[in-house]
Amino acid sequence: MQTITIGLLGLGTVGGGVVKLLQEHAAKIEQTTNVHFVLKRVAVAHLDKPRNVTLPDDTILTDQLDEVLNDPEIQVIVETMGTINLARQAITQAIYNHKSVITANKDLLAIDGPRLAQLAKSRHVDFLYEASVAGGIPILRVLSSSLATDQISQITGIINGTANYILSAMTSNNVSYDKALMNAQKKGYAEANPTNDVKGIDTANKLSILSQFAFGKALDPNKLGIRGIENITAAQLASANHFGYTIKLLAIAKRLANKLYTFVGPALIAHNDPLAQVDGVQNAVAVESNALGSSVYTGPGAGAKPTANSILSDLAAAANDILDYDCGSEFNNYHNELEPCSLTT
Ligand code: HSE
Repeated sequence: MQTITIGLLGLGTVGGGVVKLLQEHAAKIEQTTNVHFVLKRVAVAHLDKPRNVTLPDDTILTDQLDEVLNDPEIQVIVETMGTINLARQAITQAIYNHKSVITANKDLLAIDGPRLAQLAKSRHVDFLYEASVAGGIPILRVLSSSLATDQISQITGIINGTANYILSAMTSNNVSYDKALMNAQKKGYAEANPTNDVKGIDTANKLSILSQFAFGKALDPNKLGIRGIENITAAQLASANHFGYTIKLLAIAKRLANKLYTFVGPALIAHNDPLAQVDGVQNAVAVESNALGSSVYTGPGAGAKPTANSILSDLAAAANDILDYDCGSEFNNYHNELEPCSLTT
């Protein structure tokens, strides 16, 4: 069995989830990928911060990013720090050091994703970010595989778990906005600073990433009209409900005559629309496309495990590419001259 060595940046909700899933699912991961993943180093901002995650005995905890990024044994960097500038620097350094990178950093991807992807491509490493949109739903894989040959005309998404959790709690359980937000924070759904969640900024960032995959065009989130849910009242939700509607924070990108029209904000949805049934931390992405017609993808949009699961699926893909590259077909043509490439030991 081959070994792939990982460096992790950040050990918050998502980073901690990655560590836990790597341990809990170790046997299944090895069985599926035929790879043994070793978490060699983890970088955190504060070494003495209490955490509810136990690192493997051999894993080195450090507050020096460089120790992780410059370790020649580390082949894949998983970035879960959630900042923009520091994460951009770290990812760039990792790519220059020929490491594949996996991230869930939608804020960075929305403004710099295509450039970083191009940089990674030029250095022949993977840059994967399934976890950045809709948490556990493998929507980027769907858009880049099954729907890659279809012509998409519209994407409509409920793509912020925190906002959807708050609106659902206010509608169904009569919970106040503040209490619902607090619960979303306790459950690890909200960002460290939940402003982006409730003001629609996180939704706009994710729409920008979705748009790259659906329409081949990265939207500039700063140029989108964005409204959040922070002023939605219980009375408005009750009134909408009375008339057969629910209020959801929606992201829409629609192609009309070669132009892309977008919407990010709270919207009325009729009770019989599938998106109206998407409650709590669930997310959904509804796609209108020429060949498939309407398709809807739903699942948990936030939280440690669903997000970590998407990261692990990227990890498996990156490992596959690293091993393929080491044992690639160009070498197979010359297998008489080269050492045979073995995937099992
Ligand atoms: N805060 C985000 C959300 C986390 O609530 O959707 C997942 O991106």
